[in-house]
Amino acid sequence: MKAIAVLALCSLAGVSAQDSNCEAEYIVTRCLKTETDKATACSSTDYDCLCAAYEAIATCYNNCPNDDRAPAARNQVTAYCRNVTESGSR
Ligand SMILES: *[C@@H]1O[C@H](CO)[C@@H](O)[C@H](O)[C@H]1NC(C)=O
Repeated sequence: MKAIAVLALCSLAGVSAQDSNCEAEYIVTRCLKTETDKATACSSTDYDCLCAAYEAIATCYNNCPNDDRAPAARNQVTAYCRNVTESGSR
């Protein structure tokens, strides 16, 4: 039963049943390095900049949607982007 659910999820995401050993992991790693550098360059209170930078980081995981770190990255996007709207610029 559980295996069937996992398989169904994988086909929804359009990837083959390869979880921890994603073939595109090297793309994710390279993407993360570039995009993390950009996030580091943002001022820690520039939520507009941080929101965009973390969105790019979360997008890196599209290459390996089953990556363990992807949910945490999406949570960061939510946290920073929520602050953009709260500071009133959107
Ligand atoms: C959002 O803004 C609040 C208040 O300025 C700040 O304390 C909080 O750390 C910010 N959240 C993030 C994810 O930076």
